[in-house]
Amino acid sequence: MPHRVLIQVKAVDRAALHRRTLIFPATEGPMQPKTGEMLPQTDRFMVPAIFVGFLILGFYVATQTTDPLMGMQAWTFMAGVGMALIHLVRRYAEGIPADDKGAYANDVVKAGVIASMFWGIAGMLVGVIIALQLAFPNLFYFPDLPWTNFGRLRPLHTSAVIFAFGGNVLIATSFYVVQRTCHARLAGGLWGWFVFWGYQIFILVAGTGYLIGVTQSREYAEPEWYADLWLTLVWVAYLFVFLGTIWKRKEPHIYVANWFYLAFIVTIALLHIVNNLAVPVSWLGIKSYSAFAGVQDALTQWWYGHNAVGFFLTAGFLAIMYYFIPKQAQRPVYSYRLSIVHFWSLIFLYIWAGPHHLHYTALPVWAQTLGMTFSIMLWMPSWGGMINGLMTLSGAWDKLRTDPVLRMLVVSVAFYGMSTFEGPVMSIKAVNSLSHYTDWTIGHVHSGALGWVGFVSFGALYCLTPWLWRRERLYSHALVEWHFWVSTIGIVFYITAMWVSGIMQGLMWRAYNEFGFLEYSFVETVEAMHPYYIIRAFGGLLYLSGAFIMAYNLYRTVKGDVRAGEVVAGQPLPATA
Ligand code: HEM
Ligand code: HEM
Repeated sequence: MPHRVLIQVKAVDRAALHRRTLIFPATEGPMQPKTGEMLPQTDRFMVPAIFVGFLILGFYVATQTTDPLMGMQAWTFMAGVGMALIHLVRRYAEGIPADDKGAYANDVVKAGVIASMFWGIAGMLVGVIIALQLAFPNLFYFPDLPWTNFGRLRPLHTSAVIFAFGGNVLIATSFYVVQRTCHARLAGGLWGWFVFWGYQIFILVAGTGYLIGVTQSREYAEPEWYADLWLTLVWVAYLFVFLGTIWKRKEPHIYVANWFYLAFIVTIALLHIVNNLAVPVSWLGIKSYSAFAGVQDALTQWWYGHNAVGFFLTAGFLAIMYYFIPKQAQRPVYSYRLSIVHFWSLIFLYIWAGPHHLHYTALPVWAQTLGMTFSIMLWMPSWGGMINGLMTLSGAWDKLRTDPVLRMLVVSVAFYGMSTFEGPVMSIKAVNSLSHYTDWTIGHVHSGALGWVGFVSFGALYCLTPWLWRRERLYSHALVEWHFWVSTIGIVFYITAMWVSGIMQGLMWRAYNEFGFLEYSFVETVEAMHPYYIIRAFGGLLYLSGAFIMAYNLYRTVKGDVRAGEVVAGQPLPATA
C-alpha cells in the first residue's frame, strides 16, 4: 500500500497540495520515529503517586462521611483507583514493557479497544432492558429492587453508550490517529494511561451512582459534583496528552482528523465545566445545587446538551470518518478543502443551536428562533461532510461489495446524513410542536446513535484490532457481514417503529372531538404505543446480537485465529500498526 506522507506536499504549489496530499493519512513511512523516547522517570512515579494520593483522599471521605451514598461512591472510587494502580504496578514490575520503547504507544489504544467493546455491550444490554421495561412494565418492575427502576437504568443506558462506549472509542482512536498523522509517539509517557484509567474510574463512579440514586438531574450530565471534578482533571490531562503529541509532531501539516478531535476535546471541556457549575452542600455529601436557576439553567443545560451531540457524538466521530474511511478505502479524502470548510462551519454553527430543545418554553422567543435558524443552517455543513465522506470512495465503490468493514463505515455516513437532515426539520418550531416529547425524538436519537455513532465506531474497531495486534486480517469477514446485516435490520425496526409511534403519539395528543375536548386520554396514547415498543425492543435485541458477534470476531482476531475455509474477496485488511 502506498504510504503517501503529508509532508511530501508541503510544496509551494497549493494546487498540488490539494491534488496530492489529499490526503492520505500516513501511517508508517520515512517519517516514522525510529525509536520511542524513553519514558521520563518523573512520569513513572508521578502518575502512580497521583493515584495513591486519590486513594488516600477516597479513604478519608469513605470513613468520615455521614452520607451513606457518599460512602458507597467513595469506596467504589477507591476500587477503581486500586485497579488502575495494580495494573500500572504489574505493568512495570518487570522493567519497561516493550510498548514503551516502541515508536508508537499501542498498549493504551488496545486497552481502549477492549474497554469500548465491553462498555458498548453493557450499555446496549441496558438499552434492551429499558426497552423491555417500556414494552412490558408489569414483567420488568421490581419494587423491592429500586436500582432496577426505569428512572435509574435510563441514565445508566445513555451514559454507558454515549460516554463509556463512545468516549472510549474516541479516546482510543484519537490516541491512535494523532500518533500516526503526526509521526510522533503519544506525549506525556504514563499520562496516556492516566487518561485511560481516570476515564474508566469516572464511568464506574457515575454508573454505580445512578443505580444507588445519585443524580443531579441534568440530562447527559447526571453525575454529581465530585465526579464532575474528577472528570475535569482527567479531561485536562487528555487535552495535554493530545496537544503535546501535536506539539512534538514531525509532520508539519496537522491532518484534518486532528482538528475535529481537538474541537471535541476543547469544547467538551468548556461545556462540562460551565454546565456543571454547582455549589456542594457539604464536602462530604453528594448533594449540590446548580449555579444557575430558572430559564437560564434550562438554557445552560441545553447549550450543553446539544453541543454534547455536536462535539461528542458528531465532531469526534467525524474525525474517525476522516481517518478510517480513506485508510480502509485506500483513497485520499475526496476534497481536503471541503473538509476544512466543513470543520469551521460546523463548529461555528453548532454552538448556537441548543435553544431548539426549548421551543415553546419560558425562553425568549428570539432565542428559540435563533436556535431554529442555526439548526437549519447546520444542515449544509453536515451534508458537506457527508458528501466528503461518501465521495472519498470515488473510484473504489466496488470495495463496498467485498469489504464489509468499509461498508459499515460508509453506511454510518449515510445515517449521519439522514439524522442531520431530520434534526434541522425537527428544529422548525411548527414541526417541533408535534415531535417534542414524543418517540419521534427517540427515533431521531437512535438513527444518529445506532446508525452513525454505532456503525462508525464498529468500523473503526474492526480496523484497529488487526492493525494493533498485528494480524493479517480479521478472524472472519463473514461474521462482519452477519453483524452488518443483523444490526442494520435492527436499526430499521427500531427507528421505523419510533417514527410511527412518535407521530401517532403527537397526533393523538393534539386530537380534539367536535365538542372541543381532547379525543384521547393519556393512557389511551400509552396503550397505542405498545406494539411499537415491542418492535423497538426486538430491533434493539438484533442490534445487541450484532455487537456480540463482533466481540467474538475481535476476540478470535486477537487470538490470531483465521476462520477456516473462508475466502475473502478483495484485499485483506492491511496490517499497519
Ligand atoms: C441495543 C441498542 C439500544 C436500545 C435497545 C436502546 C434503547 C433505548 C431506550 C428504550 C431508551 C429510552 C427511551 C424513552 O425514554 O422513551 C433510550 C434512550 C436513549 N438512548 Fe438508546 N438504545 C440502544 C442503543 C443506543 C446507543 C448505541 C446510543 C448512543 C450511542 C443510545 C443513545 C440513547 C440516548 C441519547 C437516549 C436518550 C434519548 C432522549 O432522551 O431523547 N442508545 N435508548
Ligand atoms: C444538523 C444536525 C442536527 C440537528 C439540527 C438536530 C436537531 C435536533 C432536534 C430539533 C431535537 C429535538 C429536540 C426536542 O424536541 O426536544 C434533537 C434531539 C436529539 N438529537 Fe439531534 N439533531 C441533529 C443531529 C443529531 C445527531 C447526528 C445526533 C446523534 C448522533 C443527534 C442526537 C440527538 C439527541 C441525543 C437528541 C435528544 C435530546 C434529548 O434528550 O431531548 N442529533 N435534535
